Amino acid sequence: MNSKDYFDQVAQKWDKMREGFFSEAVREKAFSVAGLQTGKMAADIGAGSGFMTEGLLRKGIRVIAVDQSEAMLSEMKRKFIGLQEVEYRIGEAERLPIADETVDYVFANMFLHHVESPAAAIKEMVRILNPGGKMVITDLDEHRFEFLKTEHHDRWMGFKREEVKQWLKEAGLRNAVVDCVGENCCAQSSCGSDFASISIFVASGEK
Ligand SMILES: C[S@@+](CC[C@H](N)C(=O)[O-])C[C@H]1O[C@@H](n2cnc3c(N)ncnc32)[C@H](O)[C@@H]1O
Repeated sequence: MNSKDYFDQVAQKWDKMREGFFSEAVREKAFSVAGLQTGKMAADIGAGSGFMTEGLLRKGIRVIAVDQSEAMLSEMKRKFIGLQEVEYRIGEAERLPIADETVDYVFANMFLHHVESPAAAIKEMVRILNPGGKMVITDLDEHRFEFLKTEHHDRWMGFKREEVKQWLKEAGLRNAVVDCVGENCCAQSSCGSDFASISIFVASGEK
C-alpha cells in the first residue's frame, strides 16, 4: 500500500486518530508564530481532513486546502459544506496546484515527514507564497520509532531542527527559526509493545 492509499483508507477515522496523536495546541502555536491577520489567504498543504483549515477559517482566513487524497478532502468538504472561504484542490507535494505568489501564509502540519523530498517540498511551498508571506511548518523532531513507518506510512523518522532551518534558508526564506511547539505527538504501536512520544517543532520563515 502506498501513502495515498493509506490516507484514503483512514480518511473517515482520521479526526479521531488525530485527537489521540496531538491537540489543538499545535495549530494555535503555528497561528501565533504566523501572526495571522483576518481577511488574508492561506494554503494548507497536506491538509488531510482539515485540522489546520478549520482553525484558519475560525480566525477569518480564506484557505486553499491541498492534499493527495481525494478521501481526505471529501471528509473536509462534508464538514465545511456551504462555506465559501475554502477551496479544495487535489495535488502533490512536488507540483502544488497553486500559481506562484498567491497566498499570504503556507501551513503544513505533519506533512513533511510523509514526502519523498522535504527540501523540494519546502521550495515548492515557498513558490506559492506572496513576497512578505510566512511559511509555518509543524512536524516531528528526529525519533527512533520504526513502527510509525510500517503502521502509519511515515517516510522520515522526524527531522533534525538544524537541517530544517537550512532547508528554509536554501528555499530563500528570511528570519528562519525552528522552535518547540511545547507538545508531543503520541502513538501506540498496534501490538501494544511500543509507545512513541515525540516532541513537535514549529519552523517558520518569511519570503
Ligand atoms: C499525517 S496527515 C496530516 C493531515 C493534517 N495536516 C492534520 O494535521 O490532521 C498527512 C497528510 O498529508 C498528505 N500527503 C502525504 N504525502 C503527500 C504528498 N506527497 N502530496 C500531497 N499530500 C500528501 C496525506 O494524504 C495526509 O492527508
